[in-house]
Amino acid sequence: MNTILQIHEITKSYSLENKGDRPVLSGINFSVNKGEFLALVGPSGAGKSTLLHLIGLLDTADSGTIALSLESHNYSYPLLSKKIQTQLRNAYIGFIFQFHHLLPEFSAIENVMMPRLLAGISKQECLADAKILMERVGVSHRENHKPSELSGGEQQRVAIARALINKPQLLLADEPTGNLDTANTESVLELLQSVRREYNVTCIVATHSQQVASLADRILVMKDGKIVE
Ligand SMILES: Nc1ncnc2c1ncn2[C@@H]1O[C@H](COP(=O)(O)OP(=O)(O)O)[C@@H](O)[C@H]1O
Ligand SMILES: [Mg+2]
Repeated sequence: MNTILQIHEITKSYSLENKGDRPVLSGINFSVNKGEFLALVGPSGAGKSTLLHLIGLLDTADSGTIALSLESHNYSYPLLSKKIQTQLRNAYIGFIFQFHHLLPEFSAIENVMMPRLLAGISKQECLADAKILMERVGVSHRENHKPSELSGGEQQRVAIARALINKPQLLLADEPTGNLDTANTESVLELLQSVRREYNVTCIVATHSQQVASLADRILVMKDGKIVE
């Protein structure tokens, strides 16, 4: 099978005080091929982040299924325990957010090592892997700096290294350049493009940037919780 992800009739709503339920995703269907770079575009509030969180098993849907094919095993949400969801997320899914979400009290390299340490790998091995990745994303000179001491572009490079340390099959990026200036946007996008090939990782990016979307193999346009094209 060549698909890594199949989304079937996913719906989600948030309940608002006194206003009943507000649908945020309604009847979402699509699949993603292994190795594909997919962009989810659409105006703010369209439901892109919500959808990305569901794919990353970070949130719960009201109905519908998400089938994941990871290392030739098939998993189907919601038929997965919370424990398995956490394991899959840690082992196979990397996240990059608009605001790096690095842990402020840890150095850059410690942030990169963290997901691998949590996977139970020895500190020596984590450190060695993190050094290679820091070098790869061009921030090895910043190893011992805290996130607050890094530029926006550097923070996002560290976040990319962290997302890749467990060699994920699926990389989910939510407005990865939303907080960067033009020059940093370009270099971070170039980096994303090259690492996703090197690491042979499937990439789904939520963005409202044309520049980001133009790099994708395929674009899905979302509006009001639906895929419109
Ligand atoms: N935790 C939440 N509680 C209530 N409403 C939410 C919550 N998160 C998102 N929403 C609403 O869901 C809609 C879709 O949000 P989101 O997925 O963040 O869209 P996008 O990423 O495309 O901007 C928005 O109207 C937003 O206000
Ligand atoms: Mg969003």
